[in-house]
Formats: sequence, C-alpha cells, structure tokens
Amino acid sequence: MAPRKIIIDTDPGQDDAVAILLALASPEELELLAITCVAGNVPLDYTTRNARIIRELSGKAEVPVLAGCDRPMTRALVTAEHVHGRTGLDGPDLPDPVLPLAPGHAVDHLIDTLRRHPPGTITLCPIGPLTNIATALDRAPDIAPRIKEIVLMGGAYFAVGNVTPAAEFNIHVDPQAADIIFKSGVPITVVPLDVTHKALVTRARNDAIRAIGTPVARAVAEMTDFFERYDRTKYGQDGAPLHDPCVIAYLLRPNLFSGRHINVEIETTSELTMGMTVADWWGVTDRPANALFLGDIDADGFFSLLTERLARL
Ligand code: BDR
Ligand code: CA
Repeated sequence: MAPRKIIIDTDPGQDDAVAILLALASPEELELLAITCVAGNVPLDYTTRNARIIRELSGKAEVPVLAGCDRPMTRALVTAEHVHGRTGLDGPDLPDPVLPLAPGHAVDHLIDTLRRHPPGTITLCPIGPLTNIATALDRAPDIAPRIKEIVLMGGAYFAVGNVTPAAEFNIHVDPQAADIIFKSGVPITVVPLDVTHKALVTRARNDAIRAIGTPVARAVAEMTDFFERYDRTKYGQDGAPLHDPCVIAYLLRPNLFSGRHINVEIETTSELTMGMTVADWWGVTDRPANALFLGDIDADGFFSLLTERLARL
C-alpha cells in the first residue's frame, strides 16, 4: 500500500521534534509532504529554526519546512519556555541548520497542497496551536472536504489542563483556531492529555533509546532528559509525558489506542476556562459527535515502536 501522505504542523518543542523524527523514520507507512511551523512553545523564529535543525539531524533534506503564523488568530501569544527552555529545543547540543526554509507562507502551502492533491488523500497532523490550519480553513473553505483527517495533539477531559487548571496548552494558546477546527466537519482524531499522560518517558525507556547509540537517538534522549526536569517536579512521577509522538504512533499503530466518538466543543469566551475542551465523554448531551477522542494507550507498545523506529535513522 502507498504510504499515507501527511503534513506535520508544529511548534518544536522537544516532543514535537521526536514526533517529526518518528514520522521520518517510517517512510513505508508515512510520506511527510511538509513541516509547517507555527508560534507556540516558543516564538516562530525559534520553531522554524528548530524544525530545520531536526530535519538536518534526520538527514531528510528533501522535506520542505515552511514558516506560518507568528501569533494566534485573535489573542496574544502564550509561550512555554518554562517547559522547553529558551530555544524550545534545549538539551542536546545540535549544529546550527544550514538548509533554508522553503519560500512562501505555511498557510498558502497548506491550501495549495490540498487543492493540488486528490480529495481525501492528505492527513494533517497538528501538534501545536491550530492557527495555521484554522487560518487556511478560514481563507479557503473549499479545502475542508479535501482533508482526509486531522489527527491532533491537544485538549483533555479527565486530565483537564496543563497550562491552566482548565485547559491544555495547544488549545489554550489559540482557542479561536481550535473552535474553527472542531466546527469544520473534517474527520478529527484527538490525542488529549488523557492519553499522553500515560506515555511517560521513564528512566528505563529513555535508557533504551539512548542505548541505540546513534546521533539521533542520543539527541532524543537528551531532549527528553531536558524537559523531564519540569514535568517530574510538577507531577511527581517517574517520567514526563511524551505528548506529540503519540499522534504519529496513532497513524502507525491505531490499535495501540482506544477512544470514543463524541462531541467536543471549545471554550472561547471565559478567561477562567479559556481553551477548555468540553468533551461529552459520557454522552450527556445530544450534540452530534465531531471527533474520535482517544482515552487510552498501550504505553509499552508505543515505546517499543518509537525505539525500534528511531534506530532506523
Ligand atoms: C503540548 O504542548 C506543548 O508544550 C507540547 O509540545 C505539546 O504539543 C502538550 O500540552
Ligand atoms: Ca507541540
């Protein structure tokens, strides 16, 4: 079977970097058409730079990296240097990137690519705030029925929030964008904190990655070591959640995950709960389902897959 065509929309971020590497390590199943960057964990200048660093680390020079929106649709940008460090990719000592960004804006690239390919052939994988994709849908509504699926990391039901008591970071940063996505009618799969908080990089799991011994594996181990320091203290558990690679793992091995088709709406008015994903997990409303909301993951299966794939780069 031909590999599934995907675009990763991202704000790297160490866990975004691991997601990109996992996709690039899986060419039999996934064809990464482009990496489109957005402001999120750190400002756009850093997220574009980090995506270029990771592309060069992987040796896959042919994948275009594009710069997208430098701020959310209506709100001021919220960043997360307290988690990811000043550059967003703190931890390993990686060389400055040499290859340039592809010309043009990520939003135009998303629109053009979706219009150029047959309908239903491109899956979008947003692992940062949803600004680029919502802006594309807003500007070119004709692309909505052309998108095969959006598989996104964001939101929470049982885990509620990480950046505020009520909201997960990616949705909180641009709730207006998230609202557009969840109302778009595009098939959506959500990988929320409920899943990623079970995908913990424990010492043993990180050691297994480090033991691969390649430059990619060492960089991944050092990246996860870096951001673990924050989440270990915050959650007081053995290992930090590895959020974004779960999106790619879902594409590779959907049977590692389980969830429910439910209605999800986004809080866009209350400052107290801004960006909350109001997920009707228990079916207490008659609002129609608009997303597959994942709730569980086989974490051992996920880390074996990740370790096996990283060894290929
Ligand atoms: C999400 O926020 C970012 O900090 C991570 O990269 C991930 O995409 C988790 O809430
Ligand atoms: Ca991210």
